[in-house]
Amino acid sequence: MYQPASNRYQQMKYKRCGKSGVMLPRVALGLWQNFGSVNPIENQREILRKAFDLGITHFDLANNYGPEPGSAEKNFGTILKSDFCGYRDEMIISTKAGYTMWPGPYGDWGSRKYLVASLDQSLKRMGLDYVDIFYHHRPDPNTPIEETCEALSHLVRQGKALYIGLSNYRPEQAKKAFELLRENKTPCLIHQPRYNMFDRWIEDGLLDLVEEEGVGTICFSPLAQGMLTDKYLKGIPADSRATKNYFLKESDITEEKLEKIAALNEIAVERGQTLAQMALTWVLRKDRVTTVLVGASRPSQLEDNVAIVNQPELSKEELEKIETILASK
Ligand SMILES: NC(=O)c1ccc[n+]([C@@H]2O[C@H](COP(=O)([O-])OP(=O)(O)OC[C@H]3O[C@@H](n4cnc5c(N)ncnc54)[C@H](OP(=O)(O)O)[C@@H]3O)[C@@H](O)[C@H]2O)c1
Repeated sequence: MYQPASNRYQQMKYKRCGKSGVMLPRVALGLWQNFGSVNPIENQREILRKAFDLGITHFDLANNYGPEPGSAEKNFGTILKSDFCGYRDEMIISTKAGYTMWPGPYGDWGSRKYLVASLDQSLKRMGLDYVDIFYHHRPDPNTPIEETCEALSHLVRQGKALYIGLSNYRPEQAKKAFELLRENKTPCLIHQPRYNMFDRWIEDGLLDLVEEEGVGTICFSPLAQGMLTDKYLKGIPADSRATKNYFLKESDITEEKLEKIAALNEIAVERGQTLAQMALTWVLRKDRVTTVLVGASRPSQLEDNVAIVNQPELSKEELEKIETILASK
């Protein structure tokens, strides 16, 4: 019988999500990869236990996480029931809909038909009465944004989601959606964009917008799927994500990237951090970032990542050195 660590809330720091009442852990765990039906459930259990012991209270899912799609929610539900019974109220659980989930015209994008049906399916798979955050996973160019926002608001009014999130919305799309959700009296809690040293699009408008709007920001793939760690410096390890050639491909680990990774690693070592830790510290340097949303294939990675909450911020000189490396050809 699993007993969570009694000191778990001393291990983590928490930050208010935008102007809401919700506090989120500075490091949250996503179940996009390593939690599907193709992955051993015992390892999933160990990662989730370790996360909770480290004070990670936020777990991020989506209808399509797996593979196969839906299996991450199913596995998470199984482990919630067996290990975390009695701890639901200590957790913020999110899921999403927006990518292809089932065949035909109603299993994708942003219609009311899809969003309502998908959340019902997700709740069943996880064995939950409600999720804390329900996200629209990506903007839909063909459905009126009013319909998508009204569907999200409807799910909150029904009590199936406590808060609404948006993911991958560009600033102009996000601004319109924030406005509509506010009019519906179900304001957007949080935006979930990709942000890491190799992908900085949110610096061009989105971060200013979320600040103005009082919306939180949770950054996904802060380690660029593992590239911003020291693991690829000596070749591609057999058990790493790149070998799966799924979303991260071996061909993504180019010579140019490796040169930057090696130079960044030197700064991390000088600071007494791992490169993973420095990459996460870098994302959190922006005050408007509430949380980094990491993935993990083993519990030790979470130990490494969560240690950042007690490590020093990056100095002006270190930030400048990092900028020079990132800007180099
Ligand atoms: N909204 C969206 O569209 C969207 C898209 C993508 C992801 N997400 C969310 O963001 C979450 C995180 O995404 P991500 O998995 O790409 O994040 P990430 O943190 O950039 O990458 C995670 C991978 O990095 C490696 N890693 C993690 N910590 C490490 C450490 N300390 N040392 C060495 N390697 C380490 C592991 O790779 P190995 O497997 O090689 O060990 C791990 O699987 C997802 O689970 C999901 O919840 C959302």
